[in-house]
Amino acid sequence: MAQRIPEQVINEIRDSLDIVDVVSDYVSLKKQGKHYSGLCPFHNEKTPSFTVSSDKQLYHCFGCGAGGNAITFVMEKDNLPFVEAVEKLAGKANIALPEQSGTAYQKEEDASPLWEAHELAARYYHHLLMNTEQGKEAYDYLLNRGVTVEQMETFRLGYAPNQPRMLKELLEKREFDIEEMVDGGLLFRRESSWDIYDRFRHRIMFPIHNAKGKVKAFGGRSLGEQEPKYLNSPETSIFLKHESLYGIHLARGPIRKKNQAVLFEGYADVIAASGAGVTNGIAALGTALSERQVQWIRRNTDQVLLCYDGDEAGQKAAWKAGALFEKEKVNVQVALLPDKVDPDDYIRKHGSEKFKKDILNSSVSITSFKMKYLRKNKNLNNEGDKLAYVETVIKEIVKLPGAVEQDIYLRQLAEEFFYHLMHLTKRKND
Ligand code: CTP
Ligand code: MN
Repeated sequence: MAQRIPEQVINEIRDSLDIVDVVSDYVSLKKQGKHYSGLCPFHNEKTPSFTVSSDKQLYHCFGCGAGGNAITFVMEKDNLPFVEAVEKLAGKANIALPEQSGTAYQKEEDASPLWEAHELAARYYHHLLMNTEQGKEAYDYLLNRGVTVEQMETFRLGYAPNQPRMLKELLEKREFDIEEMVDGGLLFRRESSWDIYDRFRHRIMFPIHNAKGKVKAFGGRSLGEQEPKYLNSPETSIFLKHESLYGIHLARGPIRKKNQAVLFEGYADVIAASGAGVTNGIAALGTALSERQVQWIRRNTDQVLLCYDGDEAGQKAAWKAGALFEKEKVNVQVALLPDKVDPDDYIRKHGSEKFKKDILNSSVSITSFKMKYLRKNKNLNNEGDKLAYVETVIKEIVKLPGAVEQDIYLRQLAEEFFYHLMHLTKRKND
C-alpha cells in the first residue's frame, strides 16, 4: 500500500496540473472574468456559488465554505487519503511515482499488457480495412452505408479477417502471453477442442477507447447476416461495460464546450452523427445505461439529449435513462425519431441538416416525452384509461423541482383534456 511521497514529487505534480482541469473532471465550469464557476459538488445548489481560481490554484464555495487546493479537492470529492489523492493526480499529470507508492491495483491495471495488445490489434484491423484486398468487402460495405474515409480514420474502424488465427499469430510474434490474450478477450478457446482462435472474424471492428483514448475493447459487427450482429469483447481486467461509453475520448472536449452530451444507442449512430457535426455524441455498449455511466456524464455536463431509436424498445430505454439522469439532477431532452428508424438511418435518408433541424433541435423535455409516451398506448376515450393517464402524469408533474415548470405541464394537461372534451361533446352533438 501507499508510502510517503517525497515533497519534491508532490510539488512537481502541483506545478504541472491546473486546478481548473482537475475540478473540471467533476464539475462543469464556466469562465467568468478571472475565475471559473460552477455548481458546488459539496452541497446541493441550483445557482453556482463554487469558484475556482487559476491564478491562485485554489477553489472556494461561497455557499458551504468548502475550499482548498487540487489535492484537497480530490481527497474530499473521492473520499481518499492524502497519498492516494496524490497518486491519482500523478496519474493525471503523467508523473511516475517512486516505486513503493501507488496502489497495487492501479499499477496492475496500468501495466497490463492488454493495453498494448489492444493497440496492436486496433492498428492491425485498421490497416487491413484501409489498405488491403482482404478488407475491401468491409471497406465497400462501410462506404455504401455512408461512412466516409475520414470517419473510418477518426473512429479507427477496422476489419477482422475471415481467417482463424491471424491475430493470434501476430500476438505470438510479438511475444504476448497467449493465455493472457484469451483472458483479455482478443482470442478465444473453443471448449470442444481446446484450440485457440481469434475471437473476431470477418467483422467490421469498432475499437472502444477509454477517456484518455486508449483502446480497451472492441465491438465487431458481422458483415453479412451471421449472428450475433454485434459481438463485443467480454469484460476483462481493463474493460468493464457498465463504466464504458463508446466515443468518449473524442466527445469529451465537445461535451464540455457545448455543455451537452448527446446519447445514442448504437456505434453507427455516434459515427453518423459526428459526420453531421454532432461531435458530442456517445453511446452505451448495447446494454441499458448504468449509474456509473450517468455519473461520468454528470461530471462533464448537466445537460443530456437522448437520441434513441424510434421503436418501442428505444422509447422504453429512453424512459429508463431519463429517470437515471433526473436522479443526478441532469437536465434531459428527448429527440423523437419516427418508428423503426434509428439516427443513422435517418441521417442517411434525410441528410445532416434535416436531422439537426427536425430531430435534435426539435427535441422535447423529458416531461413532454413522458406525457406522449404514456398517452401512446391508451385509449383516452375510455374513462378508466383517461383517469389512469391523468393520475400518472400528475405524479410525474409533482416530482418536478420548480413551481413554474409544474405549472406549465399542468396547463398543458388541462389543455389536452379541454380539447379532448370538446371533441367528445362535438361527436355527441354530431
Ligand atoms: N448491440 C450489441 N449486440 C447485439 C445487437 C446490438 O451489442 N446483438 C449493441 C451495439 O452496440 C449496437 C447497439 O446495440 O451499436 C444498437 O443495436 P442495433 O440498433 O441493433 O444496431 P445498429 O446500431 O442499428 O447497427 P446497424 O445499423 O449496423 O445494423
Ligand atoms: Mn442501424
